Formats: sequence, C-alpha cells, structure tokens
Amino acid sequence: MTVSIGLTGGIGCGKSTVAALFRESGATVIDSDAISHQLTQPAGAAIEPIRAAFGADYIDASGALDRAPMRHLIFSDAAAKQRLEGILHPLIRAQMLERVRTGSTAPYFLLVVPLLFEARAYHELVQRTLVVDCDEATQIARTMQRSGMSEPEVRAIIAQQMARAERLRLADDIIRNDAGMDALRLQVEQLHLRYMALSTGSD
Ligand SMILES: Nc1ncnc2c1ncn2[C@@H]1O[C@H](COP(=O)(O)OP(=O)(O)OP(=O)(O)O)[C@@H](O)[C@H]1O
Ligand SMILES: [Mg+2]
Repeated sequence: MTVSIGLTGGIGCGKSTVAALFRESGATVIDSDAISHQLTQPAGAAIEPIRAAFGADYIDASGALDRAPMRHLIFSDAAAKQRLEGILHPLIRAQMLERVRTGSTAPYFLLVVPLLFEARAYHELVQRTLVVDCDEATQIARTMQRSGMSEPEVRAIIAQQMARAERLRLADDIIRNDAGMDALRLQVEQLHLRYMALSTGSD
C-alpha cells in the first residue's frame, strides 16, 4: 500500500528541518511550498488564473507572480487570501497526487503542507498527519532569526494561523522540536520506522 503522511506545523516550528531529516532517512518528500513556487513562476499554471482574478498588477515583468504586493494584499484582505488559495490549493493538490502516482515505488511519502488542516483539498491525500510543534517563545525566536521579521510581525502571523492547541488535537503523531537537532533526529528515526512498517502493512 502507498502511504502518505501529511506534515504540518506553525510558522518556524521546524517543518522544513524535519522534512530534510525524513529525506535523509529515505522518505520521499513532496513540498507544497516548492510546488506553489513552481506554479507561480513565469508560464506556471497559476499565472493566468491569478491574472484573471487579481489583474496584471500582481504579475511582474518576467511573467511571475509579484510576491511582495500579493503578500501585502492577502495579509490585510481575507477574501483576497481565500481567492488566491482557491486558485493554488487545487493546483498544488493535483501536482502532489501526480507525484505520488508516478513515484509509487517509494517506501512512503511525506507531504509537507503548512495548511494541511485548514485546506480541505489535502485531506484525502494523506492517511496520517504529523505535527511538528515547539513552544511559542522558541517559535518566535527561530522565525525572527531566520526571516529578520520583528517580534510583532511574527506574532501577527501566528495569530492568523490555526491555534496551536487545535493543530495538536488534529495530529495523529507529534514531533516536539524544543531541544536541539539530536533530539529531533531521534524522533524522526522512530517515526520513520513506524511509517516504513505502515507502508509494508506490518503495523
Ligand atoms: N531543533 C532545532 N534546533 C535549532 N534550530 C532549529 C531547530 N529546528 C529548526 N531550527 C531552525 O529554526 C528555523 C525554522 O525552522 P524551519 O525552517 O525548519 O521551520 P518551518 O516550519 O519550515 O518554517 P516556515 O513555516 O517558515 O516554512 C530555521 O532557521 C531552522 O534552522
Ligand atoms: Mg519551511
């Protein structure tokens, strides 16, 4: 059986770091952010729908999505955010499905989706959900360090995301990412063995 695990978590909690560790273990990782990026490159499948919905102001001279004005728009306009996600999620979902189909010899797939629980498009793609979580102070510090954003900016993004308790409630599996990389690697190794067992049907 082909098993797909959905990996999610709040901003800066460690999704990309955890995904890289799973990849090292031998999982096939499919990243929704990377797909989204490709879809919004020049001639990407999302470009014409975005132009039709938002106008040419949001497409840059190269024909790619103009990220800065779009980020600005959707941060303050919930309807616009919904419209953009309505374009992107089905396209991302289709790409993910295609990659799972064509890569079906992989032991299992790890689908990295920040909006796994929020967007219905992904629900039937995964058999299990994995949340990477850390306490809020660590989350804020890591996000500030990586992005250069201020603390209020990071807090504003966290406030827009699903509440941490709700995300944890929806998780089948949880990785705690409060300590260092060694502790993280250990948890990934244990889950990797469980997911391998799931995919061979022995669990
Ligand atoms: N266990 C850890 N120890 C130290 N630093 C860590 C640890 N886990 C993650 N980090 C660092 O914290 C930052 C955020 O991690 P990462 O990019 O993996 O999070 P993310 O959930 O993918 O973020 P985003 O939501 O922005 O995509 C990165 O700079 C990463 O190197
Ligand atoms: Mg990431």
